[in-house]
Amino acid sequence: MIITCPHCKKDHNIDEKRIPPNVKMARCQGCGQQFPLDIPKADSPPPAPVPGPQPISLEASPDPDPSPGIPPSGETRRIGVSLSKGGVGKTTTSVNLAAGLALAGKKVLLVDTDTQGQSSFMLGVKPKGGLTELVTGELPPQEAIVQARKNLWILAGGKSLAGLKRLIDRKDYGGELTIAQALTPLEKDYDYVVVDTSPGWDPLTVNVLFYVNELMTPVSLEVMSIQGFGEFLKSIASIQKFRKEVQLRYILPTFRDMRVKRGSEFLEEIEKIYGEKVCSPIRYNVRLSEAPAYGQTIFEFAPGSNGAQDYRELIRKVTGEPDLFT
Ligand SMILES: Nc1ncnc2c1ncn2[C@@H]1O[C@H](COP(=O)(O)OP(=O)(O)O)[C@@H](O)[C@H]1O
Ligand SMILES: [Mg+2]
Repeated sequence: MIITCPHCKKDHNIDEKRIPPNVKMARCQGCGQQFPLDIPKADSPPPAPVPGPQPISLEASPDPDPSPGIPPSGETRRIGVSLSKGGVGKTTTSVNLAAGLALAGKKVLLVDTDTQGQSSFMLGVKPKGGLTELVTGELPPQEAIVQARKNLWILAGGKSLAGLKRLIDRKDYGGELTIAQALTPLEKDYDYVVVDTSPGWDPLTVNVLFYVNELMTPVSLEVMSIQGFGEFLKSIASIQKFRKEVQLRYILPTFRDMRVKRGSEFLEEIEKIYGEKVCSPIRYNVRLSEAPAYGQTIFEFAPGSNGAQDYRELIRKVTGEPDLFT
C-alpha cells in the first residue's frame, strides 16, 4: 500500500501487515511529522491544531455530545485535565481533584505528564522516578508509583519526560498509544486515574488524549484563555476523528473574580452552549496558590477556604454524589 505524507508529500510503500492493530497515526521518515493513517490522501489536513491566534467562534462549535452523563460504575474512570494554555489551573485542579476523590474514599492514581513535575511537589513527595521509568521499564510499577496519601498514589512527571517524548517520537507506528499501553494494565487497582497535562500540544498531550475517556478543561475567566478554549475544542475534535471515546465532560471555570465583567459574560456564553458540562466555578482564592509551598492540598492547608469549598463542589459533580463532605 502506498501512503503519501500530507506534510511533505513523500510516498511510502508500506506493508500493511507491519502496522499493529489500533494504530491510527504514522510518522513520516522523510519530514518526521505525524499524520493520520486512515486519511492517506495527499491533501488531507494534519491532525494537530494550527498554532497561533485564531478568532474564536463558540457558536461555530456546537457541542457534539450534549450528554454530561457519568460513566457506569465499576469501571476505572480516566480523566484528563487538559487545555493548551498554561496557568489556567490544570495542576491545581488535578492535584485537588485527585486528593478530594481520595478523601471521599475513592482509590486514585494521579499521573503527571508535565515536565515541570509540579504535582509531586504540590503533594510534598519526592519520587525517585515516575511515568518515564514505568514506560522504559527502569522501575517496576510498584516503585514508579508512589503512595502520597491514603487512597492516593502518584506517577510523577518531571524533566525525565523529555526522554519519554523522544521515545514516542522515534516510534514509526503507535507512538500515540505509548502511555495508554503503560497505564491500562495498572488501572484496575484504581477507581479514578487523573492525568495532568503540560501546556501546549506535544506528543505527551496526544498520548493522554489516546488514553483518557473524559476531559476536564479548566478555563480561566480571562480573555486570553477564552481564545485558548476555542483552539482546544479544535484539538479535541481532531483526536475524536480517531478516538471517539474521548469526550469533553467538564468545563471548569477557574480564577472566578466577580469584579471582572468580561469573565461573567464568557461564563454565560459557555453555559448557554455547554449547559451541564459547565461546573461551578473555582473562585480566585489566594489559599490555592499558597498551599503548594507547604506540600499540602487545599483540604489540608485551608479546609474552610473558598478554594476547598469550590473543589469539594467539583468532586460532588464528578462523582455524582451530592451528599459527599456534607
Ligand atoms: N483559583 C485560584 N486562585 C488563585 N490562584 C490559583 C488558583 N488556581 C491556581 N492558582 C495559582 O495559579 C498558578 C497557576 O496554576 P496551575 O494550577 O499551576 O496552572 P497550570 O497547571 O494550568 O499551568 C499557580 O501558582 C497556582 O497556585
Ligand atoms: Mg501545570
